[in-house]
Amino acid sequence: MKVTVVGAGNVGATCADVLAYREIANEVVLVDIKEGVAEGKALDIWQKAPINLYDTRTVGVTNDYTKTAGSDVVVITSGLPRKPGMTRDDLIQTNAGIVKIVTEQVIEHSPEAIIIVVSNPLDVMTYQAHLSSKLPRTKVMGMAGILDTARYRAFLAEALNVSPKDIQAVLMGGHGDTMVPLPRYTTVGGIPVTELIDEETLDAIIERTKFGGGELVKLMGTSAWYAPGSAAAQMVEAIVRDQKRVFPVCIKLDGEYGIDDCYLGVPVILGKNGIEKVIELDLNEDEKALLQSSRTHVKEVMAVLENLK
Ligand code: NAI
Ligand code: 2OP
Repeated sequence: MKVTVVGAGNVGATCADVLAYREIANEVVLVDIKEGVAEGKALDIWQKAPINLYDTRTVGVTNDYTKTAGSDVVVITSGLPRKPGMTRDDLIQTNAGIVKIVTEQVIEHSPEAIIIVVSNPLDVMTYQAHLSSKLPRTKVMGMAGILDTARYRAFLAEALNVSPKDIQAVLMGGHGDTMVPLPRYTTVGGIPVTELIDEETLDAIIERTKFGGGELVKLMGTSAWYAPGSAAAQMVEAIVRDQKRVFPVCIKLDGEYGIDDCYLGVPVILGKNGIEKVIELDLNEDEKALLQSSRTHVKEVMAVLENLK
């Protein structure tokens, strides 16, 4: 299996590293526009192979898409990250141009690839990649739900003093502040979380999760990369190993949840064909209202993208 990661910055390089040391692909191609950066990081990852004992080949290139030819999966991380005071939506103009040009070049050399978008604003950049690739919606998806859910699970594990491995959860909606928390679908070793935690603490954890990305931007002056890079690699793994994993993933909704033509995170089954099934949960009225408000927000940002054209 061959995987290309576009953007050798914080998230892209982390994703390539995880793909390599976990031997998720035989070959990982890292692409960046900055001369030498992808080559250097790919070489560094390759030189780690004898220490960490893996044999995934890692190759770095500066904007040379011929080397990406025949990729099975392409992860797009190229674009500006947030700085303190910025929202994800502030990145739209610059990142839409980058995602457009990158997707066109990717598809020229790997017409059968499955695309995973990471660049922000996530839901709308997934839309951009869908427009530029002209691939079916099942083959163009965005990574955000695994990250948002991981943050929620990590905060819960800390509050309950249990292993994060034992926390199962799903969140829906757009990436960020309008995400839709679903505490009634959260379990700890099979036990509903509501039996283990009081409402006030749970609400505080949900609020912290919504602004989890911003918390890290404030601390570091740029956005996160370890969890985002690993989350994207986990999606690649589900596809290349045909694992049929159930993850929250950003996809264009075509009538599911009563929503049309909008990119939102929903639970899906991920396997060798990309998104193999959208799982429709039986949401209650409050959850439906939250999902609609998330939809309204994403639609507004999609309209900004339309107006840029
Ligand atoms: P970064 O600045 O460390 O890396 C971005 C890389 O993209 C740079 O190396 C840059 O040279 C490269 N790049 C720019 N234009 C390019 C082009 N045309 N072709 C190839 N490479 C190009 O940024 P970082 O932290 O890696 O974040 C990347 C993106 O991912 C940002 O938009 C950020 O907001 C987003 N992000 C999304 C998350 C999510 O959950 N979906 C989580 C974390 C970050
Ligand atoms: C995050 O949530 C900035 O989207 C990025 O960390």
